[in-house]
Amino acid sequence: MAIKRSSEQGKSSEQPANERKQRNELLQSNPTTEETSSNEDSLRPQRLADYIGQKDLKAVLDIAINAAKQRGEAMDHLLLYGPPGLGKTTISLILATEMGVQCKITAAPALERPRDITGVLVNLNPGDVLFIDEIHRMNRITEELLYPAMEDGRLDITVGKGQSAKTRSIPLAPFTLVGATTRIGALTSPLRDRFGMIQRLQFYELDELTDIILRTAKVLETDIATEGATEIAARSRGTPRIANRLLKRVRDYTQVKALGTITQPVAEEALELFQVDKMGLDWTDRLILNTLIDQFHGGPVGLDAIAAATGEDRLTIEDVYEPYLLQIGFLQRTPRGRMITEKAMDHLGY
Ligand code: ADE
Repeated sequence: MAIKRSSEQGKSSEQPANERKQRNELLQSNPTTEETSSNEDSLRPQRLADYIGQKDLKAVLDIAINAAKQRGEAMDHLLLYGPPGLGKTTISLILATEMGVQCKITAAPALERPRDITGVLVNLNPGDVLFIDEIHRMNRITEELLYPAMEDGRLDITVGKGQSAKTRSIPLAPFTLVGATTRIGALTSPLRDRFGMIQRLQFYELDELTDIILRTAKVLETDIATEGATEIAARSRGTPRIANRLLKRVRDYTQVKALGTITQPVAEEALELFQVDKMGLDWTDRLILNTLIDQFHGGPVGLDAIAAATGEDRLTIEDVYEPYLLQIGFLQRTPRGRMITEKAMDHLGY
């Protein structure tokens, strides 16, 4: 399967360079560079049967794929949402493989001008999967060009200006749009309503992450004990992308120290060195939690105040850090703002 990509560089933040580097290397949840993505590509499962976790989503997709194949049609448009690193791109690539078509990958920020989206759409082959990442960031004109494309398989373009302007309709090959977003609430309802399936990706369970790490270790030809994989899994924030990244760092550590197999004590030693704690919290998580305690008496406090006090981007806190802290019960969202929990206080040793 050929994969076409267009991507943009990552956002910068005000975090000190060394901490940012450490975070990016170990816990980056939102890679946007070619290199990171292609590294990841070799570790992705190719078929639905090899995909670990997201049981309900897999069942829904299995039916949708088979139904579309039996009818000889493109699959219905699919909107995937949830925190970064949970497998939205992987699912899209798997759909294309299962349907026997190509997957074209792009992201909303790369579709700035009308000709960007028209160029992508007219070049699709029948049945192709078009993956648009960060679809909530699409501008209005691009979005409005997508509506008739998704609904009626046609592109409506305006030729000329003013009184002499004319609308032309261009037929498109049938295709499946897979939209991915970390913020379903930021999508307009006309766009959301044009997806036949809207599916949320969940954080992974410990045993699922352990299996993913064991599978990746096999691909990387790395010796690992199940307990070593579980130790890494426990610190992976329910996220396969982080699990695979931590595995690579632990592999480096094991190799340089000539320790042979990644056992539980070896994994623990390595991850302590990299300052990824038992719950998988990194420097920024601890900063957010400590700021809440030290500067805001544990809350409730608004997101903007946390962002200002930590120097971290508001959206990054909301999309990348907060979902996991909420999931493990370290943060609570109340109408008056975010609050620290007793569980988090215990973990931080207060
Ligand atoms: N690698 C990354 N995510 C995976 C998943 N869900 N299943 C198998 N391998 C993976």
